[in-house]
Order: sequence, then structure tokens, then C-alpha cells
Amino acid sequence: MESNESYFKINKATWNNKVKVHAASEMYDLDAFKNGKSSLMAYELEALGNVEGKSLLHLQCHFGQDTLSWSRMGAKCVGVDISDEGITLAQQLNKELQLDANFICCNVLDTSKLIADTFDIVFTSYGVIGWLPDLEPWGQMIAERLKKGGTFFMSEFHPMVWMFDYLEGNPTLKYGYMQDEAIYEEYEGTYANTNSKMVSKEYGWNHGLGEVVSALSEAGLHIDYLQEHDESPYNILPDLVKTHSGMYVTQDKLYPLIFTLKATKIN
Ligand SMILES: C[S@@+](CC[C@H](N)C(=O)[O-])C[C@H]1O[C@@H](n2cnc3c(N)ncnc32)[C@H](O)[C@@H]1O
Repeated sequence: MESNESYFKINKATWNNKVKVHAASEMYDLDAFKNGKSSLMAYELEALGNVEGKSLLHLQCHFGQDTLSWSRMGAKCVGVDISDEGITLAQQLNKELQLDANFICCNVLDTSKLIADTFDIVFTSYGVIGWLPDLEPWGQMIAERLKKGGTFFMSEFHPMVWMFDYLEGNPTLKYGYMQDEAIYEEYEGTYANTNSKMVSKEYGWNHGLGEVVSALSEAGLHIDYLQEHDESPYNILPDLVKTHSGMYVTQDKLYPLIFTLKATKIN
């Protein structure tokens, strides 16, 4: 068995390679973003409302589009990501767009080693906790970085979604809902450009909703709500159907695609 550090190293290399591919992809539509289009989705926009003047820590910010979208709305943002290529591009975009966000490259679990400030809001979204072997230190770090009364919000793919292997023909139920062992996948392309020739090599972990809630509540956060949603804002799974609202659902809606969770740091 490899160590978590070696898993993180392999994931970091893959995410570094993804940055260029994603920055050029239709999905991330960098030109539209530079011209003012927000990359934020309805779930987080509705949950966090007016962020003007608030301090916001964005965990696993990729190359910064969401962070900078919050900055454009008046939040004072810090973005964190393990990928130095992602952080470099985020810093370039921040400069080019004359915004005031800061970006820090580190493993999200080490955030408190590099950032001592506390924030009104901690935010993370869409494809994040699956890169972490254990959510307890993640929950602790979130509690450490929130001000008293501060808000944590996450919008994430539902753990049901990660029970399937999507790489071979029809999706097959293969992985545990809350499997402890790392899942290794190697494939050509990325979710933002399936035609890309880049090879993704990645280790991931499945976490059930109970694990998410417990990691946060044991760290001292009060869970305001945990909601499960049929509709995903991203069309990144096979055979999803577009709804009138522009979101994506499975044909039979047998299980949710997204969950959203809001929590408050009480003490
Ligand atoms: C799917 S993306 C997040 C999606 C983001 N909301 C977006 O649409 O741009 C996952 C991000 O997590 C980062 N990441 C993966 N493992 C990490 C870790 N251990 N610490 C910090 N960042 C990590 C990757 O570099 C990547 O930028």
C-alpha cells in the first residue's frame, strides 16, 4: 500500500496537467469568464446571497474562476489549491482582471499551517472531498478557519454518484458508498474535455453523507441543513438529460446527483 503523500503527489501532477486542458475547454469558457460571466452556480449563489464586504476562503479553487467570481461580487477572497499550475493561472487572472484575491498553493489539509486568518465564509464545491482520504482533519481545519458565527457552505456531487465505474461502457455499480480504500483510476481525457489526449492518473476516496456531517459537527459546527438534489449544474456524467432550467438530471432520477450543506460555527 502506498502512503497518502504519494497519492497526493500523483493527484497533484494530474491536476497540474488538467489546468491547461481546462483553461482551453468549452466547459470552463475562459473568454466568457474574462468578459464578466460568473462561473458560480445557482446552489451556491442562493445559499450565500450577498457576499459584499465578507471575507471568503475558497478550498480547492482549481484555477480560480469561482474565487474570482466571488471577488467580483465584493467578497475579500483567498483561494487554496494543491496544484501550483492552478494557483499560478489564478494569480494571473486575478491580476489581469484587476481583482484583489489571494491564492495559496498547498494541500487543503495544511491550510491552517499557511493561513492564520479567520473568515466569514468558507466555501468549497463540485469534486472536492473525493481527493481526501479522511474528512476529520478537513472538518477541523474548516472550523479553525471560520470566525465565530461564520458560515461554511459546500455544494458537492452526491456519494451515490461515486459508487459507479464510468470508464468501461455502461456505468457499473462497483465502489463502496463509504469505502476506506483508495480508488485508483487511469484514463485518457478529463471531465472538461473527454477528447483530450492527456492521461489522468488519480487516487480518490468515497465518503458517505454521515461522514461529512460528522466531520463538521465533531469539529464544532452546527449543521443548518443538508439537502439532496436531483439536478446537477454540470453535465459530467454519462446520459444526463437537460432540464428546462438548464440543469442536468438522470433519466430515471433514481438517486440524487448533488448535495448542499450549510453549517455555522457557533463558538
Ligand atoms: C474538481 S476541482 C474543483 C472544482 C472547482 N469547483 C471548479 O469547478 O473549478 C478539484 C480541485 O481540487 C484540487 N485538489 C485535489 N486534491 C487536493 C488536495 N489534497 N488539496 C488541495 N487541493 C486539492 C485540484 O487541484 C482541483 O483544483
